Formats: sequence, structure tokens, C-alpha cells
Amino acid sequence: MRFTVAIDGPAAAGKGTIGRALAARFGFAHLDTGLLYRAVGVRGGDPVATARALMPDDLARDDLRTLEAGQAASRVAAIPEVRAALVDFQRRFARAEGGAVLDGRDIGTVICPQAEVKLYVTASPEVRAHRRWLEVGGDAARVLAEVIERDARDMGRADAPLKAAPDAVVLDTSVLPVDEAVARAVAVVEAALRRGASGA
Ligand code: DC
Repeated sequence: MRFTVAIDGPAAAGKGTIGRALAARFGFAHLDTGLLYRAVGVRGGDPVATARALMPDDLARDDLRTLEAGQAASRVAAIPEVRAALVDFQRRFARAEGGAVLDGRDIGTVICPQAEVKLYVTASPEVRAHRRWLEVGGDAARVLAEVIERDARDMGRADAPLKAAPDAVVLDTSVLPVDEAVARAVAVVEAALRRGASGA
């Protein structure tokens, strides 16, 4: 079976939590596509050459989750040649046998516009910054400023800007507790699987 769940949204909205929960529930593979851009960002050097030569080991580095890696990722992600170098890998992952969940910024809009399920997971900048701050600590005002700066860059870039696909189901985790957001996402996937099974 080929079945793609595309999850997009800004940093720290809960995409990863929902993506991992869906993958575990339905036995799908899961790809956090932000890691690809983080790996390119932290390697330094020419980002286009790095993106073209990215290896699985690059995704296993333990310094990919820092605020600095997030900012570096957001900067290299604005380079069209970097994005182009990562498209095939993501599309192959999305259509591999057994089903896949991908989370990122452009999965439902650019990478997998035909995905069987599209979710847009969002939350207010303040709520997202607070979550990030609980993870990384430090100066809360700086964490909020970085969230706002990254949103502006990811939503404002010319190539594949962050936005909801018109047919995405929106889950706002500022108002929805995480377990409820997961339950809604599960229900959306179950409905799409039923539609697929009945050939509708
Ligand atoms: O999801 P994340 O915070 O790990 O993503 C890091 C950066 O990578 C994000 O600010 C923008 C970029 N990114 C992207 O442009 N497209 C994706 N599909 C995933 C991430």
C-alpha cells in the first residue's frame, strides 16, 4: 500500500509529535524533513554541494536540534538549489511501500501535492516559543524572537514558502491539547484509509 500523510506547519507547533504518533499507530515510516535542512545547515561549506551529497550519517548527528541549527537550516532552506537537491529523496520516501508520514514546511504544497492526507499543524508564536524554551532553556525573549524570525523567513521565501495547502486539515495546538490533536489526526487518516479501501 502507498499512502502519504503530509504534515506542515511552523517550528514547535507539534508536527513531530503528531507525525510520530500517526506513524506508530498505522505502522507508517516517518521522516522529519527539517532534519535534512538542519544537517545541511550545520555541515557548513557550500550548502548546495552539501545537500547534493547528504548521507544518512549526516542525519544522525546529535547537534541538529539546537536553536542555532534551526536558524542555519532556515537560511539554507531559502536556497532553491538546496531544496531541489532534496526533493527526490523525500518523494521516494513518501511513496515507499507501507505508507509514510513526512513533516516539514512544503510537504503538502510542493513535495507531495497528491498526499492522501494533508495536515497543517500550527499554534501562536508565544505558545510555540514557550515549548521551545522548555526544551532548550536560556533567555525566553530570545527564543520568542528566534521563533518569529524563523517564521518570517520560512513564510516569506520565494521558493516553497510555508503555507497551508488549500485542502489541508488545520490543527491549532494553542487551543487543542496534544492528545486531542493526535486523536483528530488519527480520525482524518482513518477516514482517508476507509475512502481508499472503498475505492471512493
Ligand atoms: O522543522 P524544523 O524546525 O526542524 O525545520 C528547520 C528549518 O528547515 C525550518 O526553519 C525551515 C526548513 N525546512 C524547510 O524549509 N522545509 C521543510 N520541509 C522542512 C524544514
